[in-house]
Amino acid sequence: MTPVSDRHHSAGSPEMKAGEADIAKKKESILQVKSPGPKILAVTSGKGGVGKTNVVANLSVSLSEMGKKVVVLDADFGLANLDVLLGLTPRYHLGHVLFGNKSLTEIMVQGPKGIRIIPASSGLQRMSELTLAQRNHLVESFADLDGDADYFIIDTAAGISRNVIHFLLSSQKVIVVSAPEPTAIVDAYAVIKIILAEEHEKPIHVLINSAENREDAHEVFCQINSVVKRFLNREVDYLGHIERDSHVPQAVRSQMLVTHRFPNAPASQCFRELARRIAQQESPAEVSDGLVWEKLLNDWVN
Ligand SMILES: Nc1ncnc2c1ncn2[C@@H]1O[C@H](COP(=O)(O)OP(=O)(O)O)[C@@H](O)[C@H]1O
Ligand SMILES: [Mg+2]
Repeated sequence: MTPVSDRHHSAGSPEMKAGEADIAKKKESILQVKSPGPKILAVTSGKGGVGKTNVVANLSVSLSEMGKKVVVLDADFGLANLDVLLGLTPRYHLGHVLFGNKSLTEIMVQGPKGIRIIPASSGLQRMSELTLAQRNHLVESFADLDGDADYFIIDTAAGISRNVIHFLLSSQKVIVVSAPEPTAIVDAYAVIKIILAEEHEKPIHVLINSAENREDAHEVFCQINSVVKRFLNREVDYLGHIERDSHVPQAVRSQMLVTHRFPNAPASQCFRELARRIAQQESPAEVSDGLVWEKLLNDWVN
């Protein structure tokens, strides 16, 4: 009779361990909550200091001003990380969700214009110690963001560690930030090459930061794209530019964002244009089935 075999099937094969059955059950419960999940954007660069953290923060604020709900994962351990940039002193980080009894909501800190930040900090370094149950708890915590966030933006560490690559591959949009300097261009190409070696069809969007003007930025993009075409047989998309603007470091020195401190500065206008472009590129809300989070988080751990 079918019900028996069905039940047997849904409980998994006889060799399925109790832990796995438990995970399968939890996955089902996540699947029932079909609210639209956020768009996951990972912002990366080949080298540090090209303005990645500033891009993440100002883009987030600009999207938020457009009425979007934005959550930022601060996964860059550089010196000037997001909390320093924003003058925040988070009490908790992801480690408290994993190894303490805090919820994701409890560890999130409010940034300017309603953006919410998840300080990952040392939590990330201990991810590999997680048990299956803890990983599952984490996936569920992130799945709770579905319906409550339009964008989930990750400020990844610069460079090409395993960790970073998995983040990039699991994200819907990968943004590679490059400065116009030849060293930054070479490093941007290196990071693109590694991503495409893992997944040749992955769409990659290039943003040129600290450009003199629109024409120069486009020229830099063309240089990157032509090398990608020639050696990797692919093309990358142009996401535009952010002007080099002394208001940016000036705002940073007062632990504020340029879009917040100097809303009319040239760089702030570029950030708003970037946010508009990203919002326009949005595909109709995809229904998150929890699997996106699972992929993101499991890849992250392994
Ligand atoms: N468009 C820009 N114009 C001028 N200075 C910038 C611009 N973007 C970033 N900077 C400066 O570059 C420095 C590095 O930026 P940051 O966002 O911390 O880089 P990353 O996260 O890539 O290491 C900061 O001091 C910042 O003020
Ligand atoms: Mg940074």
